[in-house]
Amino acid sequence: MPSSTLALQGGTPVRNKAWPRWPQWDESERSGLLAVLERGEWGGYDKAVRDFEAAFAARHAAAHCVTTVNGTTTLETALRALGIGPGDEVIVPPYTFVATASAVRIVGATPVFADVELETWNLSIPAVEAAISERTKAVIPVHFGGLPADLDALLPLAARHGLAVIEDAAHAHGSSWNGKPVGALGTVGSFSFQASKNLTAGEGGALLTNDPVLAEKLWSIANCGRSSDGMWYEHPNLGTNLRLSGWQAAILSAGLARLDEQLQRRMANARRLRSFLEEIDGLTPQHWDPRADAHAHHIFLMRYDAERFAGLSREKLIAALRAEGIPATAVYPYPLYQQPPLVEPYSRVTPSPNAERLCEQTVALGQNLLLAEPEEMDDVANAILKVRENVEALK
Ligand SMILES: Cc1ncc(COP(=O)(O)O)c(C=O)c1O
Repeated sequence: MPSSTLALQGGTPVRNKAWPRWPQWDESERSGLLAVLERGEWGGYDKAVRDFEAAFAARHAAAHCVTTVNGTTTLETALRALGIGPGDEVIVPPYTFVATASAVRIVGATPVFADVELETWNLSIPAVEAAISERTKAVIPVHFGGLPADLDALLPLAARHGLAVIEDAAHAHGSSWNGKPVGALGTVGSFSFQASKNLTAGEGGALLTNDPVLAEKLWSIANCGRSSDGMWYEHPNLGTNLRLSGWQAAILSAGLARLDEQLQRRMANARRLRSFLEEIDGLTPQHWDPRADAHAHHIFLMRYDAERFAGLSREKLIAALRAEGIPATAVYPYPLYQQPPLVEPYSRVTPSPNAERLCEQTVALGQNLLLAEPEEMDDVANAILKVRENVEALK
């Protein structure tokens, strides 16, 4: 162990070394970009886009993939393609990125907030059931941090009530549930390729589905309302232009080739961190449901119980860890239904004490940290132990 004086109080940090860079790239990105350049097409109908869509669908055992410019417009496109609009309700969690709920309002429908589980950060199935009304048309489970929501319970519940299931898999590239990749397990799945995501082109998004009719609608909405077998100036639908560029697709194909090796590395390092946390009373990792046989670990999530750290506030814990070289964050400061465009009556809110508690207790690490060497996870463990040993000096 380095200095026992906390770095926050002038001591030597546990770690001075940088964590793995994100995004990562090599010659395959360069050659993919050059191929797009030299083909001279550059736009969204470039071969690179079709190639990536085919590879991404195949990786997730989905029949169809439609790319768009980001993981917000994917959600909006999915809702529009399902015919969801004014008068309809869509159930969403309150502990998620804003797009999961704002997409519902953008299409004119009402987001209905149902609570999440404390242990998984994912939608609570009883809370979803309690939130269903005669206006409910869909539910959007977020596979939070990369952990699939409980699809064994959610899919039959949705089927019983005739609801579409839009998987928000923005955190869950390559995650699987009972051996099946997420994304096309519900009606349609939405992915983001924004800069922090486990597969990225800086920006970008994709939709997966096994339904050919829905796939055509998604494609049409994202391609100006055209039909895939129609003429350039035929617009049977009201659409917009959400086409991913060839440049982005080339970057994504190169990254996709690395996804599985990185997924395994993140899972192995997460297991190492979890076994250390078993010894630490007060920092409880996200419950890793054994049915989630692959867990993308976009975010490594812990729940902090300040009582177990002599009352040290979460904010002080995070500041102390950051000073020791561990880039911990608190994720979302308050639930989505407190954001002005999502308060009632723009939304319907059902009691969400778990989401509120998670806003107070979450301590998280980003996916790039989990790409380090296994021994480097011990820096995280040593920093936590050091803070714990010096907790009285910090208060
Ligand atoms: C759960 C979730 N859904 C949707 C999105 C939206 O993706 P994008 O940033 O690509 O629009 C994000 C992005 O951060 C997200 O975390």
